[in-house]
Amino acid sequence: MTPDIEKEPWTAAATVVDHVVRGSLARHLARGRGGPLGTTGTVSPVILRGPRVTLRPATADDVERLRSIRDEPEVSRWWGTLEPGELEGFVAEDTTFAIETGGEVIGAIQYAEERDPMYRHAAIDIYLTARSHRRGLGSEAVRVLARFLIEERGHHRLTIDPATDNVAAIRAYEKVGFRPVGVMRSSERGPDGTWHDGLLMDLLADELTDGAPESGSAPGP
Ligand SMILES: CC(C)(COP(=O)(O)OP(=O)(O)OC[C@H]1O[C@@H](n2cnc3c(N)ncnc32)[C@H](O)[C@@H]1OP(=O)(O)O)[C@@H](O)C(=O)NCCC(=O)NCCS
Repeated sequence: MTPDIEKEPWTAAATVVDHVVRGSLARHLARGRGGPLGTTGTVSPVILRGPRVTLRPATADDVERLRSIRDEPEVSRWWGTLEPGELEGFVAEDTTFAIETGGEVIGAIQYAEERDPMYRHAAIDIYLTARSHRRGLGSEAVRVLARFLIEERGHHRLTIDPATDNVAAIRAYEKVGFRPVGVMRSSERGPDGTWHDGLLMDLLADELTDGAPESGSAPGP
């Protein structure tokens, strides 16, 4: 299903990437690569709707709810421990969306864009409260944002990079159409201070799935 995209006037001023953005987006795009990349800039704020989830620009009002989600062990295991001011910076990015279902905030999703024309692509990162895991909501949110990035932002390639042992994330992204590219050895430091491997996955525009049941997974007669 093609998500509805509502363009809305949005009052939050665009900010410059000058603070720490947590998650793999930061590791791969905002730090260390050089070049004109980042999570903020000239993007018009939008509301994106899928069958069950709505992605709307995150605001300062979301900080406490997102803090409680980030503090859940099922989430901090993959996103690390919050640093002072981190969430305030995260919601101030104009590429950060709160994920809602049934009017409740269940998580957040963010993208970052590589703006060098030779390497142009976008990367996605996401977390949901554990109570909403395994209901297809994570893959739906990624699909809705991926469609926006392809159709509205004109990207031909998207990336995402879960830890190699994050089975649920890898499966969720495969359902959207992402494919494994390769293992990035010792690319991410976990909350216990040790380095672990990340799996780089990417998706080309014509590989995005529509969310229909995969062939072979439909119930038999
Ligand atoms: C990753 C995340 C966004 C996925 O969202 P989700 O709504 O749970 O994902 P979905 O329900 O769409 O898909 C999860 C898939 O993994 C499968 N899965 C979940 N846990 C699993 C496990 N331990 N072993 C095997 N498969 C598992 C589910 O069965 C489902 O596959 P299926 O639909 O074929 O049955 C969510 O789990 C999350 O927020 N996790 C914590 C933070 C995190 O890991 N963020 C990603 C960092 S890259």
